[in-house]
Amino acid sequence: MQFVISLVLVLAAASVAGAGPLDHPGAMKALNCSACHGFAGQSIADTMPSLAGVWPEYFKKAIADYASGKRPSTEMEPYAKQVMQFGVDDYAAYFGSLKREPAKMPVDGAAAGRGRAAAVQCAGCHGPEGQGDRAKLVPALAGQPPGYLKSQMTLFKQDRRSPGDANLKALKAMMQGLPDSTIEDLAAYYSSLR
Ligand code: HEC
Ligand code: HEC
Repeated sequence: MQFVISLVLVLAAASVAGAGPLDHPGAMKALNCSACHGFAGQSIADTMPSLAGVWPEYFKKAIADYASGKRPSTEMEPYAKQVMQFGVDDYAAYFGSLKREPAKMPVDGAAAGRGRAAAVQCAGCHGPEGQGDRAKLVPALAGQPPGYLKSQMTLFKQDRRSPGDANLKALKAMMQGLPDSTIEDLAAYYSSLR
């Protein structure tokens, strides 16, 4: 009840103050994503990606991959199917319109320093500051929670994210050459970027 009252107050405040995040047509549809991805796509859980600031093109690819089972996830598959049914464009435009606040989970400074050195090999695709490449559907890594970055790198290493995808061969070969400790360092580094 307290939550409902707060939500109503937030909604009222947003409409008085002018256009807020909840005024977007995708905002209401996306409310049930906040249980895992945080309010307005701002993750507060180490293992959950922030959706705020994700480019619509990459967002739509990720949703399509989950819905078809190409990128296996028992958690995301039902939600991805729901998103496809309700209209993925509204969700994609909504999350893409939000600015990502960097993850607040603390990272070890020494690990991030080692990660910076190891990240030289990633920069060709993810950019020198982990900002990604929108045109090539390479996601931004900067400011994502460290646990999420680590889990995805591990899934690539084990060929469990989009298994057998020919486009991801180079990325997976690279991950297979990295010890788990380096994967942890890379996660700390990219999460620490602003
Ligand atoms: C029960 C928790 C849960 C809910 C609710 C949820 N998600 Fe997710 N989501 C996850 C998890 C866990 C992952 C990472 C899965 C993986 O390993 O690929 C994820 C990943 C994603 C990604 C991929 C991000 C990236 O950087 O590749 C997108 C996009 C996404 N979710 C969108 C949504 C949307 C939109 C909704 C609401 C309709 C939603 N999710 C609801 C748990 C959830
Ligand atoms: C050949 C280009 C390429 C290289 C090199 C590369 N990546 Fe990626 N990376 C990608 C692409 C493309 C994706 C998105 C895959 C998809 O669509 O599912 C991705 C996805 C990721 C993700 C998942 C992000 C998310 O939001 O789900 C992480 C984490 C990641 N890369 C880390 C790294 C790290 C760390 C390195 C260096 C060790 C690296 N990548 C090297 C192309 C590359």
